[in-house]
Amino acid sequence: MEITSLKLVNFRNYQSLTQTFSPKTNSLVGKNAQGKTNLLEAIFFASIGKSFRTSKDKELISWQAQEARIVLNAKNRFREKQIEIILQRNQKKVVKMDGINIRRIGDVLGEVPIVFFSPDELKLVKDSPEERRRFINIDLSQTNKKYFYLISRYEKILENRNKLLKSSQNKSVVLETIDIWNKALAKEGIKIAEERRRFVEEISPFASAANAYISKGEELKIEYSGIDVESEEEYVKKLEKNFEKDFKLGYTTFGPHRDDLDIYLNKVEVKSFGSQGQQRTAALSLKLAELEIIKNRLGEYPILILDDVFSELDEHRRKRLLKFTNRCQTFISTTDEQFCEGKIIKIKNGKAE
Ligand SMILES: Nc1ncnc2c1ncn2[C@@H]1O[C@H](COP(=O)(O)OP(=O)(O)OP(=O)(O)O)[C@@H](O)[C@H]1O
Ligand SMILES: [Mg+2]
Repeated sequence: MEITSLKLVNFRNYQSLTQTFSPKTNSLVGKNAQGKTNLLEAIFFASIGKSFRTSKDKELISWQAQEARIVLNAKNRFREKQIEIILQRNQKKVVKMDGINIRRIGDVLGEVPIVFFSPDELKLVKDSPEERRRFINIDLSQTNKKYFYLISRYEKILENRNKLLKSSQNKSVVLETIDIWNKALAKEGIKIAEERRRFVEEISPFASAANAYISKGEELKIEYSGIDVESEEEYVKKLEKNFEKDFKLGYTTFGPHRDDLDIYLNKVEVKSFGSQGQQRTAALSLKLAELEIIKNRLGEYPILILDDVFSELDEHRRKRLLKFTNRCQTFISTTDEQFCEGKIIKIKNGKAE
């Protein structure tokens, strides 16, 4: 996959930008607050359908403007594609694929697959399981639309079951209808667990290889720690067994919405014992492993976006990282010209040179 050009109108601090890119590495270089991350955000937004910084799309519109526009041109082995997004202050966003309006954002997802890394991604190793589930969900959704809709269905059912648990103080009233939700949850939940288990098995060796390459041989290991049931019946039994607890708490305690990944470095948990550089390298390696997984599924590499990736990495790791990323189109932002490779795009006050 390759992004050939990007056009922005009134997007964040870009009044008007038209930029072409190299199929290899593109380095966005500039001082703080000039618009490097904003440009990466625009690419992300056109590919994923939402921002990595905010859930309020309207924040992306330039302060003085009423409407923002992103036009992204890309091509893969087979054809060229254009994604256009128009954001308006008082209306719903318009998304077009090759000029045709799209209703469901899920239809755009995966058209221009990307892998994104920012310093924030450290959450992936350090923070709560929710971050790791988000990682799995985004990754699987990009290569598997069925998974995207599967997760949406599961979350709706879960919400309904939780609502029911909270709806009455009377246990028998709740018990009257909970069966429907138990069965529905089991049906979708077991599929989610299956997909995730397969995903972790697939990603783990690639992440280990990337981590070993960048770090001079440190040993990374990833394990899925999720629900462990064999059948829908067993799943329903688990829910029934947990009913008293769930009723007391007012929410569902068993299911893939509580899944996690365990990440070990040289046999100890990186979350607790890794240095900053090690944690960053581990998070990065998970992302780099995504490149390989997506390539396995789609037959070609996705776009790699690295926002401010170099801080906290020593020289050896930086160099190795740059070598590693040669395999696909990469966008790197940095404040330091010393680390620039490939096509250098200087960003200054919402303009590119
Ligand atoms: N909706 C908006 N309209 C106009 N300008 C905006 C909007 N949102 C953000 N900005 C401007 O964009 C600037 C930030 O740009 P960006 O995050 O891309 O910086 P950066 O080049 O990545 O800097 P750093 O090196 O510090 O990460 C902010 O300082 C802000 O002034
Ligand atoms: Mg930035």
